[in-house]
Amino acid sequence: MLAIEGVSLSVERGEVVAVIGPSGAGKTTLLQAMACALKPVAGELFIDDVQPWALPRRQVQRLRGRLFLAPQSPPLPPRQRVVTAVLAGRLADMGLWASLRSLFYPRDRAVARDALARFDLADKLFERVDRLSGGERQRVGLARALVARAGLLLVDEPLSALDPTRAREAIATLIGAARERGATLITTLHQVEAARAGFERIVALRGGQIVFDAKAADVSDEMLRELYADHPNELSADLLGAAAFVPSRPAELGVDRPMTCR
Ligand SMILES: Nc1ncnc2c1ncn2[C@@H]1O[C@H](COP(=O)(O)OP(=O)(O)OP(=O)(O)O)[C@@H](O)[C@H]1O
Ligand SMILES: [Mg+2]
Repeated sequence: MLAIEGVSLSVERGEVVAVIGPSGAGKTTLLQAMACALKPVAGELFIDDVQPWALPRRQVQRLRGRLFLAPQSPPLPPRQRVVTAVLAGRLADMGLWASLRSLFYPRDRAVARDALARFDLADKLFERVDRLSGGERQRVGLARALVARAGLLLVDEPLSALDPTRAREAIATLIGAARERGATLITTLHQVEAARAGFERIVALRGGQIVFDAKAADVSDEMLRELYADHPNELSADLLGAAAFVPSRPAELGVDRPMTCR
């Protein structure tokens, strides 16, 4: 079975695009294909008019250095310091030794601190990553994307561990940073309201295919309800109509008895 099929998508340099769709739609797969982390079994992929998979391996590596893929759960070694984790965002374009050396440069530490400050984490610079909360780890992953200097930022589910206020701030920071340096930003999101509020363009996937590709301002509640018709629990109550969230019998959700936590 193919995770995505028949998808035709063209993104201009500097565009800010949200990819939405129910769980299993193929959002992460599409992002990984664009990051050259997954090789398509068929079809063509062009980045700056170049077909990455037709290049010699070394040139593919160089191309990857111009892309930054931020996975949903950033792979942060447990005992690593936050500063190291953030500066690792430069690994792809600096090379291992240069990026390790950069840890000792005050100038680079300042870059890491600035990126963290934009996510309200400046005081965590020398904290160990395993002492961070889930939301803090997620924001460290985003700070990493900020220092990456890549022209194409591909960010998978950046808001899943954040509360609504932090989520709004984080998405504004990410979009602001991409715009400042003219980078292209493609982000998968479950929060459709955040997609409509902050992004220029929304690409909707379902079952591995594009359902719509439209300006955010043109995406109606109706289009979203239709997209999530088979997964209504993934859509916010506002869009769905609050009644849909009231279980017919409380027992169905297992809330008829008080819960005990020991
Ligand atoms: N490594 C894999 N091997 C086989 N099938 C996979 C693999 N990764 C994903 N899939 C399948 O491909 C489809 C698309 O998965 P994908 O992770 O791209 O969805 P998604 O839209 O990102 O979902 P979610 O919102 O839950 O993150 C799903 O049916 C999934 O089960
Ligand atoms: Mg995913």
